[in-house]
Amino acid sequence: MTKAQFQVFPSPSAVAKAVASHIGEAVRARPQTVLGLATGKTFVPIYEALVALSQETGLSFAEASSFNLDEYVGLAPNHPASFRHYMEEHFFRHIDLPADRALLPEAGGDAEAASLAYEAAIAARGGIDVQLLGIGRNGHIGFNEPGSAFDGRTQVAKLTPSTIAANTSDFPPGEVPPPEAITMGIGTILEAHTIVLVATGAAKAEALARAFLRAADVDCPASALQRHGNVTVFCDDAAYAEIGRQSGK
Ligand code: F6R
Repeated sequence: MTKAQFQVFPSPSAVAKAVASHIGEAVRARPQTVLGLATGKTFVPIYEALVALSQETGLSFAEASSFNLDEYVGLAPNHPASFRHYMEEHFFRHIDLPADRALLPEAGGDAEAASLAYEAAIAARGGIDVQLLGIGRNGHIGFNEPGSAFDGRTQVAKLTPSTIAANTSDFPPGEVPPPEAITMGIGTILEAHTIVLVATGAAKAEALARAFLRAADVDCPASALQRHGNVTVFCDDAAYAEIGRQSGK
């Protein structure tokens, strides 16, 4: 059974406010906080809430740093479906985080060298303080698909057909996601000092239950989080439903 703490809210917007306030507290307590960031549909309202919090309260990211989990191999940074573009649109251009400290894996050239450089850059910052994670329907975290080793480092990963299908709607009509991405490995993720996993919507209910109610297994990458001592799951009622049903809560 899991050591993760669960915070369950009635709606995705309530989840977004709670996660934003959690991040805000971390950055206020330690302005040099190193954030691990995620993209995806789940995080759109979260960045919106964080930007609003920053505008309303003067929360500053001027001394912080960030490392995103992943980036597609071969997409230009200004491609509308690249994670760099997503981060600029939803977060970076609205806040005062310095551009040279808002990093994503460099997926345009030698991916192996870029993966090693990314690990070194994280280590040089003293590691990640707060790692944000979403979860795929198949239990993936970052682009660590089922079968990924729990001690994996930043590397090139192949996307499964289900992840390609789930992410196709982020691409312009007629385009599909590239087959590969650079992603932090599960071992890299587990070294973060604290982890915040966010899940909203009924489509995530099975994956969340599988991750936390069954024995950890590489078939469900998110179940590796059971091995971390400081994980908080922020979810809505719909995503929590299967855990609630199986645990009688
Ligand atoms: C994105 C990432 C992915 C997503 C996951 C959920 O940086 O690493 O693991 O968090 O695919 O995506 P959404 O939120 O679109 O359901």
